[in-house]
Amino acid sequence: MSQDASQAGPSYVGAGVALVTGASRRIGRHLAERLGASGHVVAVHGRTDRAGTEATVEAIRAAGGRAEAFHGDLASAATCARLVRDVTRRLGPIDVLVNNASAFEAASLDEMTVADLETHHGANTRATYALSLHVGRQLRDRHADDPRRQGAILNLACTSAERPWSRYVAYSASKAAVVNLTKGFARVLGPAARVNALAPGPILPPAGGAPTQTDEAVKRTLLGRLGTVEEVGAAALFLLGARYLTGVVLCVDGGRSLVAPA
Ligand SMILES: NC(=O)c1ccc[n+]([C@@H]2O[C@H](COP(=O)([O-])OP(=O)(O)OC[C@H]3O[C@@H](n4cnc5c(N)ncnc54)[C@H](OP(=O)(O)O)[C@@H]3O)[C@@H](O)[C@H]2O)c1
Repeated sequence: MSQDASQAGPSYVGAGVALVTGASRRIGRHLAERLGASGHVVAVHGRTDRAGTEATVEAIRAAGGRAEAFHGDLASAATCARLVRDVTRRLGPIDVLVNNASAFEAASLDEMTVADLETHHGANTRATYALSLHVGRQLRDRHADDPRRQGAILNLACTSAERPWSRYVAYSASKAAVVNLTKGFARVLGPAARVNALAPGPILPPAGGAPTQTDEAVKRTLLGRLGTVEEVGAAALFLLGARYLTGVVLCVDGGRSLVAPA
């Protein structure tokens, strides 16, 4: 496990099956490991990085948990449906869905293409919609059988949903849609499931990003530093376990969203 799962934040003793998308690395891997450490059977999803998903699965197993790897490009609606079917068949019905996978591509005005919008819309917006729909219907049907059962969906949004970043217009728009989907699915899935979102600020800079960009991002926080994956993980477990919260977007951003964007 990348860090001690017991660090920072409220304890959440969950059970059942959790599907975490984009769990081959970084924030998604940490969220999958924390859910494994808190008692969930974890479906570790990655698009192409099989070594990454296997490393996440191994970390969860090494800590005494249960996990299996799943793969597929979530820009395809058919793949989203298949993923939910495969996880359900191999691990059982899904109790927790974490929509973490994300396209994240920079483009200047001259570099921007219409296809950029589809790339981000497919991986970030349509996948969140499709997976929430398939898992949400399962939860609704199971809730009808047992009203004590409640599922949870957690979406990874971004502070750019509110204040778009100039080099990430398509990404920011897709995350704004994720915020709206969080509220829409909270309405349609209650009380069978709670649906909330995290909006991280600068946590892990993109691989290959210039150190000056990180310095700029840190300067725009009020707390003067990057956040950590453990802090995102603690907020995630808080939202997953907060039984009277739904439709909430929680910024984990060191105050970044109060400061004018770059
Ligand atoms: N890092 C930050 O500081 C930060 C800040 C604000 C918001 N966030 C949000 O937090 C989440 C995690 O961030 P991160 O930086 O850890 O992400 P990341 O390193 O970019 O990882 C993205 C994950 O998404 C998967 N993915 C990308 N496109 C996909 C597609 N079309 N279909 C299926 N999977 C796909 C990747 O899988 P493969 O590797 O297999 O391709 C990878 O596992 C994202 O939603 C991001 O927008 C992060």
